[in-house]
Amino acid sequence: MKSLLFQLILASFVLSNFDNNVNAGHTSVFVRKEWPSEDIPLDHEVFAVPTGHNAPQQVHITQGDYDGKAVIISWVTPDEPGSSKVHYGTLKGKYEFTAEGKMTNYTFYKYNSGYIHHVLVDGLEYDTKFYYKIGTGDSAREFWFQTPPKIGPDVPYKFGIIGDLGQTYNSLSTLEHYMQSGAQTVLFVGDLSYADRYQYNDVGIRWDSWGRFVEKSTAYHPWIWSAGNHEIEYMPYMVKR
Ligand SMILES: *[C@@H]1O[C@H](CO)[C@@H](O)[C@H](O)[C@H]1NC(C)=O
Repeated sequence: MKSLLFQLILASFVLSNFDNNVNAGHTSVFVRKEWPSEDIPLDHEVFAVPTGHNAPQQVHITQGDYDGKAVIISWVTPDEPGSSKVHYGTLKGKYEFTAEGKMTNYTFYKYNSGYIHHVLVDGLEYDTKFYYKIGTGDSAREFWFQTPPKIGPDVPYKFGIIGDLGQTYNSLSTLEHYMQSGAQTVLFVGDLSYADRYQYNDVGIRWDSWGRFVEKSTAYHPWIWSAGNHEIEYMPYMVKR
């Protein structure tokens, strides 16, 4: 998405709130640095692969129903399919419940994706912190999420709007800014990884690096996605250049 369009959307959002005499809350003065901006190199720590054989990576959650009583937990295991189970509960380290989902994988040019797991965890209580564990043995990893409050006319809820994130040093400052904001959810307005700037196998590799890059937020806060034009993958050039 063009950043001007994004600014217009943001501006109209703020204005429409003023029109309706709604409390639009606080708008941050944070301004992302100007283009150009370099992609962070793949060996940077922000893309670090978690330790342990087949450890879950790129962990992310999204809202799993219309009410806020469910989440979908997704992750990638790199070496073998592994388990598609989520163990969860309201006490850290004590996982009373288990949900099981499904696994998929794909190929793009010569890139073979890892094993992508999706698990619906539903029937949850509102406004409750849940802890969850995925992966097995020494490679297991633990996270948490908080369900939103029960829907009502004046229920406070703080969310961030992010678009055009990418994986540059500016992307990192935007992500860190969101994480310090105290918001609970991201509405993502499209153009996630900018992996479409790459060709051949590097497209998949840059999707994976982006998944690891955002995990420190997406494993804990539901990000609610819409697709942008940079989500369209073209077949790589098949001719020798
Ligand atoms: C998915 O993984 C299986 C098991 O490793 C493999 O045999 C299959 O070719 C993969 N499918 C795709 C579309 O990459």
